Amino acid sequence: MTDWTEYEERAAGSIAGATSLDVLEAARVDVLGRKSELALALREVRDRDTGMLLNGIRQRLEAALAERETTLADEELDRRLREEVVDVTLPGEELPVGSLHPITQVRRMVEDAFLGLGYEVRDDREVETVAYNFDKLAFLPTHSARSPRDTFFFDDDHVLRTETSPSQIHIMEEKQPPLYMVSIGRVYRRDAITATRYPIFHQFEGLAVDRGLTLADLKGTLLHVMRRLYGPDRQVRFRTHYFPFTEPSIEPDVSCGICGGVGCRTCKFSGWIEMGGAGMVDPRVFENVGLDPEVWTGFAFGMGLERTAQLRHDIPDIRALWEGDLRVLRQF
Ligand code: DAH
Repeated sequence: MTDWTEYEERAAGSIAGATSLDVLEAARVDVLGRKSELALALREVRDRDTGMLLNGIRQRLEAALAERETTLADEELDRRLREEVVDVTLPGEELPVGSLHPITQVRRMVEDAFLGLGYEVRDDREVETVAYNFDKLAFLPTHSARSPRDTFFFDDDHVLRTETSPSQIHIMEEKQPPLYMVSIGRVYRRDAITATRYPIFHQFEGLAVDRGLTLADLKGTLLHVMRRLYGPDRQVRFRTHYFPFTEPSIEPDVSCGICGGVGCRTCKFSGWIEMGGAGMVDPRVFENVGLDPEVWTGFAFGMGLERTAQLRHDIPDIRALWEGDLRVLRQF
């Protein structure tokens, strides 16, 4: 026979002595659970006195349990509030914010400037055939760029493109004029690495083909883009030059932004900075892509993105744009 007074005392003791919710739950299973002595006895009850006795014990133990549970839960909350305190007035952890490489920034500016003029943006292949890199652009057989001393050849017919100008041929073969496009990407030349040259660099190449285009259209276009890239006060001038695929060919200069055109070290005291090459599309190039030079006119230009980035940010050495030194890149 169970001594129920003793059972209740022992049960009350283990409830009161439970130091955590886990221990309390174990005590509940032990003294009140479905297989506890009390529960089993309650199921067997035959007379009213025993029933009242056992139910009384159960009710008191359940009340004690509930009370102990509240106390323990409060203590637990207090402890967590104490230990896991968050001081919301402390400064947060600063997340390092990256930035786009200056070449990418300039590339996007060029894209924006030409998209604003209604040009389409292209990105052509870097491995070119001799036909597209030289022949169709009317390079003479004797042109020095055709030499493996200047150009990376894979075999007799394939090169790493030396300029973005092959894009002119690609678009003219793909579509009928009027055409307005700018092609941006990497080009390759066998140059030794110096402060001003790198064997890989980026160019942007423009081509407009329409009826009645003149040098004045080229000049207006370059003036607009140079002002977008370098500021609203810039001027553009043309010097005559030679390129195989333009006639006449010119080299555009932009007025020096450091001295305002008066003359300084950056512009070699001329007031002007060389920007690249340009000109009116040579009739032979039109013939090479099956366009009638008596009907169509065009202008083209090509410039370096590294040079643009260097001028915009006053970066004296082109190598800084290729070495990935974070001390440099974090400045942009
Ligand atoms: N492709 C020439 C170069 O890399 C630059 C150039 C000159 C591009 C004249 C042109 C152009 O489109 O018309 O030196």
